Amino acid sequence: MTSLADRPPNAVVGRTVSHESADLHVTGAALYTDDLLARAPGVLHAWPVQAPHAHARLTALRTAPALGVDGVVTVLTAADVRGVNDGGIHHDEPLFPDEVCYAGQAVCWVLGESLEAARKGSDAVEVEYEPLPSILTLREAIDAGSFQGQQPTVSRGDAAAALERAPRRFTGELEIGGQEHFYLETHAALAQVDEAGQVFVQSSTQHPSETQEIVAHVLGLSSSEVTVQSLRMGGAFGGKEMQPHGLAAVAALGAVTTGRPVRLRLTRTQDMTMTGKRHPFHATWDVGFDDEGRLLALRATLTADGGWSLDLSQPVLGRALCHVDNAYFIPDVEVHGRIAKTNKTSQTAFRGFGGPQGMLVIEDILGRCAPALGIDPAALRRQNFYLPGQSTPYAQPVRHVERLHEIWQQLADRADVARRQAAVEAFNAGHEHVKRGLAVTPVKFGISFNLTAFNQAGALVHVYKDGSVLINHGGTEMGQGLHTKMRQVAATALGVPLETVRLAPTRTDKVPNTSATAASSGADLNGGAVKNACEQIRTRLAEVAARRLGVHPGDVRFGDGTVTGLGTETGLSFAEVVGTAYTDRVPLFAAGYYRTEGLHWDSTRMQGEPFKYFAYGAAATEVEVDGFTGAYRFLRTDIVHDVGDSLSPLVDRGQIEGGFVQGAGWLTLEELRWDLSDGPGRGRLATQAASTYKLPSFSEMPEELNVHLYERATEPGVVYGSKAVGEPPLMLAFSVREALRQAASAFGPPGHVVQLASPATPEAVYWAIEDARAAVQDQDRARSAPARAVAGTSGG
Ligand code: MTE
Ligand code: MOS
Repeated sequence: MTSLADRPPNAVVGRTVSHESADLHVTGAALYTDDLLARAPGVLHAWPVQAPHAHARLTALRTAPALGVDGVVTVLTAADVRGVNDGGIHHDEPLFPDEVCYAGQAVCWVLGESLEAARKGSDAVEVEYEPLPSILTLREAIDAGSFQGQQPTVSRGDAAAALERAPRRFTGELEIGGQEHFYLETHAALAQVDEAGQVFVQSSTQHPSETQEIVAHVLGLSSSEVTVQSLRMGGAFGGKEMQPHGLAAVAALGAVTTGRPVRLRLTRTQDMTMTGKRHPFHATWDVGFDDEGRLLALRATLTADGGWSLDLSQPVLGRALCHVDNAYFIPDVEVHGRIAKTNKTSQTAFRGFGGPQGMLVIEDILGRCAPALGIDPAALRRQNFYLPGQSTPYAQPVRHVERLHEIWQQLADRADVARRQAAVEAFNAGHEHVKRGLAVTPVKFGISFNLTAFNQAGALVHVYKDGSVLINHGGTEMGQGLHTKMRQVAATALGVPLETVRLAPTRTDKVPNTSATAASSGADLNGGAVKNACEQIRTRLAEVAARRLGVHPGDVRFGDGTVTGLGTETGLSFAEVVGTAYTDRVPLFAAGYYRTEGLHWDSTRMQGEPFKYFAYGAAATEVEVDGFTGAYRFLRTDIVHDVGDSLSPLVDRGQIEGGFVQGAGWLTLEELRWDLSDGPGRGRLATQAASTYKLPSFSEMPEELNVHLYERATEPGVVYGSKAVGEPPLMLAFSVREALRQAASAFGPPGHVVQLASPATPEAVYWAIEDARAAVQDQDRARSAPARAVAGTSGG
């Protein structure tokens, strides 16, 4: 048997193929969960009654008026729940609550013959509330001591002592905004019950097995009585990792209660007001450098805004703490984490899973300290990179870090950074009201679930008598191209043409106990399982072929649908060998399994080796900023990114481009605003639609975007030498934020330190520019009246 990373000659992995559903996507023929509605005769439609208060006690709930509305069939309330009235895994998310914990929370669901009937019925439901005091912002939560979950610390050495000794020391604070997933497909579920009581839920879920568990516990059934299918999702981005469960449970409860199929699909505004988002973070930091700008010590406290329930906040915080170092060696570290409990949607997984927030802290520190240290920001970053042999603060060796050093160099060459940096300076010298900035930032991102148990996967592969292949695996498709890669893996492992491999939708009755398709590990894990299943079948077929070819089974080769023996003239077709195997009564299907080797993690001490490997990348972005408005253009971005030996180069390129743009959206345009007033709207999300929530579109793409996949990058110990790609590229967008900072600083005096809000909206950039200009004026005044200015800039 070959190693996991070895590729046969003529492998189908590594070929440039388009997404397996690309034709269906662009013609509109691809079906999503809610499109299946037409196949469910007699289907009922669900509509929520949403609470208007951020925090309130329910004092009365009268559903009778709704039942009088034409077409309303029933109103689901806590009284209908036969199992546990909870939609989460921590039992802190009552499905039908008696205490409302955020504005927009559903208190009950109306089922109607039509969507319109259900909506009208929901208007007719009478609810009385007793409003309670609410906590909305991180600052309010910190002041009130409103926290939930564990408060872990990652540390190494003695940060306090090292800070005392540090020749250069800076402190600061940073607020990081959240992000709405804005997947094109909003949350959807379609539930049916068959004549034997088996519940079948189609759900837009990244985690069908967990959706199955929650549906079962709400209905009071065993897992074997519930099947969940995830056909494909129109984007998920982490937003469908835990949030679909309760919604699927409501649909299932409706189906069990009425005996009819029930469809639930959130409107955009319902989705935005009801479901969790990326965690906003608050960070305070204290950092020490030596005189040359080498990082010596960091002490920081990160507070994540978890919203009303725990959800995935603990693992998200854990990943944030494990990524505060990004690519930099910090000898003495002490980073504390805590999760605020606020009266907002339950913040959840979002591409990067806390990693981006953690990494932003150190990137913000370096971006702010570089001018104060008098060192070019890119040079400051480069000189603090990990060196081979060094370990992270949680004691994992930073394997292959030399790749990052090479990537940085390749990027400098490809993007022509030195020459363009000089051009930017010349441009800025010649323009008073428009300035440019060019920044380069690195990414180091750990791959694997921190929770070791999740790092396993299963697959089921069938070979039919005609030689055609059907694969099933535990991963879900959300547009990221996992199914495309899995077909390529199966075709490679069986040595058959790609066209002969079909893929069936992800279902819990095919592969059980699956992990969420998340942590970018979908291809690593499911690819390992698919390959394992195919190799079991191939080993059996090799014996069959060996007998026919008169060679040793070890000398049988599979490729392009032909089976040959070493030294034999003619081969057999794959279908012929399969046919013989069938008559010889050799099984033609197999269950595959994979577990990631070599992981261990102690979540109480926050020490161990939680990651199989690190994904590396770097980006250089040039921006132009308008001094009158703060508006900006992204002129050019160059990326060099490490995906190992790509399983599917076109898919990976798409992931890098998409991840980068999504990251740029988070860091620049996308701003969630809640009503923070004391009025009746307190706690309501003010940005409830695309009209008020600004997403990046084509016009916000860099005018020139060059993506290069780092070459000769075989990753040992991973399926066909590839590396995960789903999340890491999002953090390449730090280069955009740092370029904006540098452009803003060009409006100020040399060495001016720019503090930039996150997101760096045009408004935020405008204030940073104003600040820089004010510093020029201060300096001018200082020149004319030195004594006064010195007094006015104490501590500067
Ligand atoms: N790409 C698309 N098109 N749509 C998505 O929803 N989700 C991202 C990333 N890329 C996403 C995406 C997230 S959050 C993760 S964790 C990975 O894909 C999950 O898929 P993978 O493990 O197969 O990479
Ligand atoms: Mo991705 S945030 O791990 O679903």
